[in-house]
Amino acid sequence: MSEGSLVLVVLATTLAAWLLFFLFLRARPGAAPEIEDTLLRPSQQERTPRLVVEDASGVTRRQFLNRAYLAGVAVALSNFALASLDFLWPRSSGGYGGKIVMGDAVQLRNQLDATRTPILNTDTDVLPPGIALMTYEGTPQAAEAIPAYVLANTANTGFVALYRKCVHLGCTVPFCTSSKWFECPCHGSKYSINGEYRAGPAPRSLDRFKVDIVGGRVVVDTATVITGPPRGTVTSQPQPEGPHCVTISGA
Ligand code: FES
Repeated sequence: MSEGSLVLVVLATTLAAWLLFFLFLRARPGAAPEIEDTLLRPSQQERTPRLVVEDASGVTRRQFLNRAYLAGVAVALSNFALASLDFLWPRSSGGYGGKIVMGDAVQLRNQLDATRTPILNTDTDVLPPGIALMTYEGTPQAAEAIPAYVLANTANTGFVALYRKCVHLGCTVPFCTSSKWFECPCHGSKYSINGEYRAGPAPRSLDRFKVDIVGGRVVVDTATVITGPPRGTVTSQPQPEGPHCVTISGA
């Protein structure tokens, strides 16, 4: 259930609860009147005429307030239950925490090999700042030797899906089209086109997600973030291919 649909459901539930409440009030024209002076002292009760305040439907003010209170509690509980349900609802497809279909595998491979510019997924509703899809530029043998690549299914698919969150302090990492590296603007960490650590304060390579080819389409599973390979991992692109976009002394 998306955030927008949850808001609509909560609003609809709230309105429906209040509507039912008022219909309930109107549906009881013969409700018994209620004495309003029960808090008066006995002597006052003797002197004071019995006062009954009710509207045309036979509902006293006290009954109205009691029912309004109960209706409010019911609405609050139902909203809480819906919010809990949304939190626990399994997200089996689409969005972060689920599987994202990136597109036809052959077309994506052709596009990425031609442009050598990762495709960014900016569907950042739940887990910003999104992913970057790129073809793997090392050899399958190199990928099979590195646990993070094995977990990400890199050798089998030929794709890498990087989590664009800098593993230093979490900034979004843009792709620099001149160096063809990912370069973090915050403190200057740099990663290769496949997200391998190259420079700066980052403790490791970029984290990533498992990729599968399903029915000829590239599917990225964002349910689990795979910790990036350690510093010193160089399976492709050891050097930048042009000027850096981010230049920070010491990085
Ligand atoms: S957050 Fe990216 S280098 Fe610090």
